[in-house]
Amino acid sequence: MTQIIDMKSFPYSYEELERMAAENTSPEAFDYVQSGSSTEQTLRTNVQAFSKYAFKPRVCTGTKVVDSKIELFGEEYPFPIFFAPIGNQKVVHPEGELASARAANRLNVPYIASTVSSHTIEEIAEASGNGDRWFQLYATKDQDVTNSLINRAEKNGYTAIVLTVDMAPSWRIKDMRNQFLPFSRGQKPYPSIVSDPVFQEKYGTSVLENGLEKTVRSIFPNPQFSWDQLKELKKITSLPIIVKGILDEDDAKIALEFGADGIVVSNHGGRMIDGCIPAIKALPSIAEVVKKRVPIFLDSGIRSAKDVFIALALGADAVFLGRPFIYGLAIAGEEGVYKVFSNQFEEFRRMMILCGTNNIDAIKKLKIIEIN
Ligand code: FNR
Repeated sequence: MTQIIDMKSFPYSYEELERMAAENTSPEAFDYVQSGSSTEQTLRTNVQAFSKYAFKPRVCTGTKVVDSKIELFGEEYPFPIFFAPIGNQKVVHPEGELASARAANRLNVPYIASTVSSHTIEEIAEASGNGDRWFQLYATKDQDVTNSLINRAEKNGYTAIVLTVDMAPSWRIKDMRNQFLPFSRGQKPYPSIVSDPVFQEKYGTSVLENGLEKTVRSIFPNPQFSWDQLKELKKITSLPIIVKGILDEDDAKIALEFGADGIVVSNHGGRMIDGCIPAIKALPSIAEVVKKRVPIFLDSGIRSAKDVFIALALGADAVFLGRPFIYGLAIAGEEGVYKVFSNQFEEFRRMMILCGTNNIDAIKKLKIIEIN
């Protein structure tokens, strides 16, 4: 793996980021990050759908100073652009999530640590230092292990839970062809689950008898998760629970009824269900039913500032950036992640000035139309 050192040659566009990341990782690791499931229709339409929208900028608003700040769950953040939870980051860089969490701290953005990170909940908390951090939870089939994961997140200073509900084994052809599993290259599988004291106590014997991977796979992933279990999770934690992976407005309604404190409109970047609605297309009707009662986040296809504008104008409060920062990590580790976000922030700030929008509310009020 070669890593560029001269940050002057660091890419600005998504296409360049992708190309350079491909040059800086193994072909299998690149495929793992880049690919989508099956025919990759959703992967493609996630991005294409953004080009079906355009907003009407305003002029002569006297915008001198732009205020890009947002407030969420009682905290202030400099931009409405956050990290998407992404697991297994060591596949593209030896420092993996530790590098990303350090960059997030420098950027004043919450780092959202995935349950399937290549480092444990505790290691990521340490790397994130005094930075804000949220924990992305994949609820396991064993409630005790799930509770223990939440407990460890609370103990280690994570201040929100992002509960992802759209994950199950999918049909990612490139990974199957490459016979690629993130931990098949000498990495420890699921460090946060394997290091969990409750997991060790309950499944230690099974690990000895059946092996580690088979044992973890007996409780994870958990496609049987149901809304009732969200109610249970609400009982065991006082942290806000943000449900990630909602595409249908009826599900958004139900999520709120069961106590969700936030919604992430997402199709997992086209990595799970092929042929489903592009996330940005699902946003307007979800915003309509949520009626500003809880924050709405959006991911799946955010590539530049105009995408963030479109998402905000269609009802999102903030967006998650996914693949772009992983490409930054692949190219230049922590500095690469930092650079991807700072470029996004700066382009967004310039767009605010250009569009006569001196704060986030003004972006939300821009008129938006569908084109072609
Ligand atoms: C993901 N995503 C994801 N989501 C999640 O909730 N937990 C996880 O562990 C992961 N892991 C993961 C790995 C990789 C390599 C990718 C690309 C994505 C999904 C992620 O949070 C987000 O929904 C997508 O990345 C959004 O799509 P784009 O904008 O990156 O195309």
